[in-house]
Amino acid sequence: MKSENQKDVKVALTVNGKSEVVYIQPWVSLLDTLRDHLNLTGTKKGCDHGQCGACTVICDGKRILSCLSLGVMKNESEITTIEGIAKEEELHPLQKAFLEHDAFQCGYCTPGQICSAIGMIEENQVTTMEELKDSMSGNLCRCGANPNIIDAIANVMELQE
Ligand code: FES
Ligand code: FES
Repeated sequence: MKSENQKDVKVALTVNGKSEVVYIQPWVSLLDTLRDHLNLTGTKKGCDHGQCGACTVICDGKRILSCLSLGVMKNESEITTIEGIAKEEELHPLQKAFLEHDAFQCGYCTPGQICSAIGMIEENQVTTMEELKDSMSGNLCRCGANPNIIDAIANVMELQE
């Protein structure tokens, strides 16, 4: 979206494989850039203070809290949001596991949980259930679906209690 505000800064991003250019004020978070300027509202704003994980996206291969990142800091970054996780009609294995394990109620935390789990798996540091729970502890579910979320992720990682 082109803005007429002279204080806006041009930011180029690759989002879900597509090149995007936005003009944003320097203090706008990556979360608001995605939601308000690119209309990618799958990424959720929970606390807006780095405490809930609802806004987690994958940036240059790492999971990050998009509410704590400025859009301008991510110029020329590659971002994957929940909208980019499925391959056309084929859900990601984690998405399928969330369905199979009834791992959501309102679904508000789900995009962040899935992006975070993908980042965690990429990090390749987790080998036990305890480590899995610890590594996912930054993503909170207010509905109480946490046990099912952990089960769903563990199932994809083939971890057992
Ligand atoms: S909205 Fe970013 S951590 Fe809660
Ligand atoms: S399913 Fe409602 S916040 Fe997690």
